[in-house]
Amino acid sequence: MNRFAPLAVAPILMLAACGNGGADTSSAPAAAPAKPARVLSDAEKATLLASLPAPYNEGDLENGRRAFARCRSCHTIGEGGPDMAGPNLYGVFGRKAGERPRYSYSNAMRTADFTWDAEKLDHWLQNPRTFLPGNKMTFPGLPDDKDRRDVIAFLKVETGYQAEPAPAPAS
Ligand code: HEC
Repeated sequence: MNRFAPLAVAPILMLAACGNGGADTSSAPAAAPAKPARVLSDAEKATLLASLPAPYNEGDLENGRRAFARCRSCHTIGEGGPDMAGPNLYGVFGRKAGERPRYSYSNAMRTADFTWDAEKLDHWLQNPRTFLPGNKMTFPGLPDDKDRRDVIAFLKVETGYQAEPAPAPAS
């Protein structure tokens, strides 16, 4: 028990490094207005979750995180995260499909003319192939309704989704 200060605290951060050198942010021409990095506390996540429209306000974030494990091999979600096989998903809600700068989308996705919201994502995740024929996301889909609800709630909370401002109190 008489040891000197233990130096065994090697950074465990490497656990998080899932390959892929991030050739991402370095030369970014700052196309989008710079938003401050925003990391929500658990309490803020709970508040945001509760503010989502039904049924997402009842989403189970833990189950959503588990379901998202099936997406992680191809997608990062953190702000400024790298594109992998699929594009980084930060800020995806409210963004037009196929619009992430510098990511090389399929023609089908690049020319798709819609904006991602929960409903679109729900259909996409149910069956990517039939939702948008010709896209290149080789993912069979999440057949379970609850998994889709939860992964969408999880994504809303983790990808910088801004809740609609509450209507101003009429007074
Ligand atoms: C095998 C790799 C892979 C997996 C697994 C995968 N994706 Fe994708 N995803 C892609 C690719 C590739 C694209 C781009 C599709 C294209 O350009 O046609 C994409 C596109 C998307 C888009 C559209 C993004 C945009 O900018 O328009 C969303 C949203 C998305 N994926 C969500 C998910 C979610 C959620 C999961 C897990 C439930 C998932 N993906 C699983 C590869 C994957």
